[in-house]
Amino acid sequence: MEELIKKAIEARDESYSPYSHFKVGAALKTRSGKVYAGTNVENASYGLTVCAERVAVYKAVSAGEREFEALAVFTEADELTPPCGACRQVLWEFSKDMLIILANTKGEKRLRLSELLPMPFERKEF
Ligand code: THU
Repeated sequence: MEELIKKAIEARDESYSPYSHFKVGAALKTRSGKVYAGTNVENASYGLTVCAERVAVYKAVSAGEREFEALAVFTEADELTPPCGACRQVLWEFSKDMLIILANTKGEKRLRLSELLPMPFERKEF
């Protein structure tokens, strides 16, 4: 999984964050072994900003992927940066037990998505 963190670090370098100056990199590993990376993309209309995690998920899903094994999130913040609530819900849609790796320059922490999102919104009937 060190390779996945490396991809998240590389993605962070591409962050478009002129408003917050908070650079985030994410790398998502599919069950088939591919990696899709994403970074946060901000906008002058702040609410249109998209997090790094969702960029990675949307890239992967657009490429036909539906099952994910792990997500690494890297920032240089002193405290580890967990995915925001919206990103947790988007990840949950696809792989409920995925491994989430939070990393910064000091270290890393691994946990399951189900720990981060204990009561997700789900629709079982349509
Ligand atoms: N951000 C992410 O990309 N992922 C997170 O998990 C938290 C927040 C971004 C959004 C925005 O560009 C910046 O960090 C500050 O909130």
